[in-house]
Amino acid sequence: MSAVVDLPEEQHPDRVRLRFLQSGEDRAVKEARVLAGTTIFDAASWNGVAIDSTCGGHGTCKKCKVKVVSGNAPVSPVDPRAFTIEELKNGWRLACRSNTQEDLTIEVPPLQTRPKAALAGVGRHVILRPAVQKRYVELDESTLEDQQSDLERLLAAMDDVEPRVPLGILRDLGGTLRRANWKVTAVLADDVLIDVEEGDTSDSRHAIAFDLGTTTVVATLLDLETGLPKAVRSILNAQQPFGADVISRISATMLDDEALARLQEHAHETLQHLTEEVCAEGDVDPAEVYEIVVAGNQTMIQIALGIDPEPLSMAPFTVVARRMPEATAADFGVAVHQRAPAVTFPALGAYVGPDIVAGILATGITLDRRVRLFIDVGTNSEIVLGSSAKTLATAAPAGPAFEAAQIRCGMRAADGAIEGVKIVDGEVELTVIGDVAPLGLCGSGLVDAVAELIGAGMVDHSGRFVLDASERFGTIGEENVFHLSDDVYLSQRDVRELQFAKASIATGWNLLCRDLDIEPGEIAQVLLGGSFGSYLSAASAVKIGLVPKLPLTRIVSAGNVAGEGAKIAALSVTERAAANAVLDEVEYIELSGRADFNDLFVDQLAFPE
Ligand code: FES
Repeated sequence: MSAVVDLPEEQHPDRVRLRFLQSGEDRAVKEARVLAGTTIFDAASWNGVAIDSTCGGHGTCKKCKVKVVSGNAPVSPVDPRAFTIEELKNGWRLACRSNTQEDLTIEVPPLQTRPKAALAGVGRHVILRPAVQKRYVELDESTLEDQQSDLERLLAAMDDVEPRVPLGILRDLGGTLRRANWKVTAVLADDVLIDVEEGDTSDSRHAIAFDLGTTTVVATLLDLETGLPKAVRSILNAQQPFGADVISRISATMLDDEALARLQEHAHETLQHLTEEVCAEGDVDPAEVYEIVVAGNQTMIQIALGIDPEPLSMAPFTVVARRMPEATAADFGVAVHQRAPAVTFPALGAYVGPDIVAGILATGITLDRRVRLFIDVGTNSEIVLGSSAKTLATAAPAGPAFEAAQIRCGMRAADGAIEGVKIVDGEVELTVIGDVAPLGLCGSGLVDAVAELIGAGMVDHSGRFVLDASERFGTIGEENVFHLSDDVYLSQRDVRELQFAKASIATGWNLLCRDLDIEPGEIAQVLLGGSFGSYLSAASAVKIGLVPKLPLTRIVSAGNVAGEGAKIAALSVTERAAANAVLDEVEYIELSGRADFNDLFVDQLAFPE
């Protein structure tokens, strides 16, 4: 087995190397390579180096002081307001105003306040820096002598932020200040003042992170004070009657003028239903949810916002916008705080959409020096390969093998589904969800069944049944089948469907390896995500060739990475900036136009020897 590699750095002249030192120590606490132009503050935050801040990187709190001890960091217009000339000469800069243009060594002073952090994503340590902030202020009452306007008085009391103020705030401001005896809490979402509340409400702020999946929708109510989830709920997407996958939903909108509005309504109902459930379970007033973050594939996001998805379904597969304009929770049909913004993720392409960008954030692939491979296994499988030096992403159409409806005895992963198969001495052992009699086969059961049959010599490497190898082979109609139980069987066609799916995915990661000039054996970690991938057995995935042949400890289940990415974005504005930077950092590779695709695909159809 080849050694695990780091990608060579010299391929990327647009990147700079940053060394962070703890004040008073020579030892680098962290080294990072980031795109030139990234601020020191963002680079530090993405790499887990904590720098003081109360404004979240907006350049107003002047707390993010660092000292550049080697390399040149230009003085920003704000720096002279925070430092003396002597300090500027000595290299002191505000980290959030300092764009990196060359390699730097940066001394980071100890924190004045201990930052709160939360574990999220795939083992990510996220420093809490929510966009939603609250400021409790006690104002002087206005008098004939002191005739500041109500708004001036409020803003003057919050000298570390300079928010934008929507008109609606002014409608209630005068009454609120006087009723509250001039003791109020300002609520900020990023740089917008979204409310002024009576009294001190500063210990209550929440957000909801949604994963708007084609099949399942998950909501997590987050306490932004602690970073901890207060409630998590999931339900099936109410758009199901329009078809199981994105293509059937898009087709519905093409056949019927009313369908888009109805699909949008169903998405809104689903999100609102979950909102009510998580708020009830977490005992939180929906009006105290000040932000929502929505991760989902591009089709789901466009439909939820009432945007025609048709161009996503046909060449050249165009997204309406890579970054959505500002939206509100109400635009997603979610009744929380009336001015709560809705945050979405950018899209690399029609089929490497916001859900994958959220997944890239959750896995931290673009932050890690090691070469890692992330596969979201599904009808359309997204594949990301790379490290902090270079990252590539692609989408591989895997066909319907993982959709229950296309497999003879296929079913959703619910009670009665065979999710695990073992063949020991010719005997079949089944693991069935819910410990009931087997009713069908779900995606992980299918992969396991085929892997075990190959291992037992009952399926050959070309994918053909070896009919005399077991008495469990029989025929149903014209077709050869392998009986897993009295009622559930695997057909020869099912095996073929799986071969196409895994060949498509394997072609995807092989091509990305080629483009990065590495051998698959050099990959340090494979992350399997998505509703199918998370449940696959690593051994079976290797045996059928869905993932590279690596020690099993290098293959890990990544869970619902899109939902985790949504949570991370709700907890930290700097992480959110990292997600936005994915558009510049990750290169999208289109497989369909590649001359080498077909040959490689044919090679990948066979099961590994
Ligand atoms: S000024 Fe607040 S983080 Fe830089």
